Amino acid sequence: MPLFEHHVFICTNERDASAVRPSCRPRGSQQLKSIFKDAIREAGLRHTVRANDSGCLDQCEHGPVVVVYPEAVWYGNVQPEDVGEIVTRHLAGGQPVERLRLAPECINSESCPHKQK
Ligand code: FES
Ligand SMILES: [Zn+2]
Repeated sequence: MPLFEHHVFICTNERDASAVRPSCRPRGSQQLKSIFKDAIREAGLRHTVRANDSGCLDQCEHGPVVVVYPEAVWYGNVQPEDVGEIVTRHLAGGQPVERLRLAPECINSESCPHKQK
């Protein structure tokens, strides 16, 4: 059995409706995880790529949020129709999908203009 080469974490966190920050699950991330799993299997990557749901990844204003390790590529606002491209281009082809990447100033940064202050 080969080792996994990529782990795809899909945030499926859901906060209380009264929370200040938004969360990823109400934006469709649970469905996104299923689509990732199917696409990974269909691409023949089942033994080298693992898709898991995760708790909050703390990039909540950009949901649904997905991060791919080991290269730590962060994707934001990922929609069902984006999954095929991430699987084909990034996970199979090694080229991150630039149009979906979070801006560097948005990742773990107080300077993110989208964050609730
Ligand atoms: S709720 Fe998804 S990153 Fe925080
Ligand atoms: Zn931002």
